[in-house]
Amino acid sequence: MLFETLKIQVSEILKKEDFSVTDRLHLICQLLNENIQYYDWVGFYFRNGDKEELKLHTYVGEETDHVIIPFGKGICGQVAISNENFVVPDVQAQDNYIACSFTVKSEIVVPLFKNGENIGQIDIDSETIDAFSEKDERFLEFINKEVAKILV
Ligand code: SME
Repeated sequence: MLFETLKIQVSEILKKEDFSVTDRLHLICQLLNENIQYYDWVGFYFRNGDKEELKLHTYVGEETDHVIIPFGKGICGQVAISNENFVVPDVQAQDNYIACSFTVKSEIVVPLFKNGENIGQIDIDSETIDAFSEKDERFLEFINKEVAKILV
C-alpha cells in the first residue's frame, strides 16, 4: 500500500534533525508530489504571526502568486477558520475559491494543529477531477500530526 510506505518515509524525513524544519517540509512536499500521481501541487501554509492570514511556507509545483491568503478567503482561508478538512471534488463549483492555475481541477486542504490550535495546513492541488478520498484525508492528517511534533 503506497500510503503506508510513504508514511514510513515521512517519519524518516522528519527525524533528520540536521535538516531545518523548512527543508524537511520541502522534502515531504517532494516525496508526495513525486510518488502520488494526482498530487500535482503540494504546499504547507502557516499562520503569519498574529495576523489573520496564512503565509506560504514551502511547496512543490507550479509557482503561485498566493503567498499570503487572508483568513476566510479561498479554500485555504476557510480551513483556517473552520478547523476542518476541506475536500473539493470540482474547484469550478466553488464560489469562494482562489485559482492558482487553470489546470487545477480538485483540491484538498487539511488543517495542522499544534497543542489543539490550528496553526497551518497542507494544501494539495490536482489536475484530476474528484481526485481525493477519505484515504487522502487520513494520510494527510497523519502527516500533519507528525509535522506538528517537530514544530516549536
Ligand atoms: N486554491 C487555494 C489557493 C492556494 S493554491 O491552491 C496554491 C484556495 O482556494 O485557497
